[in-house]
Amino acid sequence: MNTFDDVWPRIEPVGGWLTREQARVLHDAVVALPPGSTVVEIGSHQGRSTLALSLARPDVTVVAVDPFRAGGKFGGPETRGVFEANLRRAEVRDRVDHVGEPSGDVRRGWRRPVDLVFVDGKHDVWSTRTDLLWAQRLPAGRVLLVHDAFGSVGVTLALLLFVLPSRSLRYAGRVGSLARFERTRPTLHDRAALLAQLPWFARNVGIKVLLRLHLRPLARLAGHRDTADPY
Ligand SMILES: C[S@@+](CC[C@H](N)C(=O)[O-])C[C@H]1O[C@@H](n2cnc3c(N)ncnc32)[C@H](O)[C@@H]1O
Repeated sequence: MNTFDDVWPRIEPVGGWLTREQARVLHDAVVALPPGSTVVEIGSHQGRSTLALSLARPDVTVVAVDPFRAGGKFGGPETRGVFEANLRRAEVRDRVDHVGEPSGDVRRGWRRPVDLVFVDGKHDVWSTRTDLLWAQRLPAGRVLLVHDAFGSVGVTLALLLFVLPSRSLRYAGRVGSLARFERTRPTLHDRAALLAQLPWFARNVGIKVLLRLHLRPLARLAGHRDTADPY
């Protein structure tokens, strides 16, 4: 079993938006699984999160779902080439099954058990809803992690519309905008805790607007020291 500090130097150079502490959450979630588990990642891009998941231990399989569609915001075949090269460089290519189809199509044909789901695909409401449906494949007690949960209008709306009323997903906290949900019945308190993130979401959207308007000093006043969006 690798410690997070051992593997971080292999994750850090890979392009992407996952922060160090968020990569640690992915790592720890994999470490907590039984041997032989299967992890489903939706949205791989250049493989930053794929490495955080697959480097955690050698006895789990990571299924990386990403169609790498040409012409989109994240790139097509060339991004796939970078993803493959990053996995080979980190020596995890044999632990990762890449599935090059949209997550909804993959889910409909999926018959294997799933032990952990990480959602970081397309960030509009309907795509996120489709991705969140993977949580229904998790056994009781298992974990769903959602990136950009409180930094993207589409993802946050999807959580409010489809997870807040859910009877089988409990909000269990966040590291930045990486939210953790557990497959169990939520209490009123859990639902209130999810709603309580909305002011923080509004602040993040405000900071993104300020950065787009090149008003970094105002973003700094709101406590955002970075040049990148809040994640
Ligand atoms: C935000 S990036 C993922 C970032 C990655 N998790 C990381 O750590 O760097 C979103 C990715 O979702 C992929 N994507 C878009 N639509 C998808 C779909 N329907 N199913 C799975 N992945 C999708 C895109 O190709 C893109 O690579």
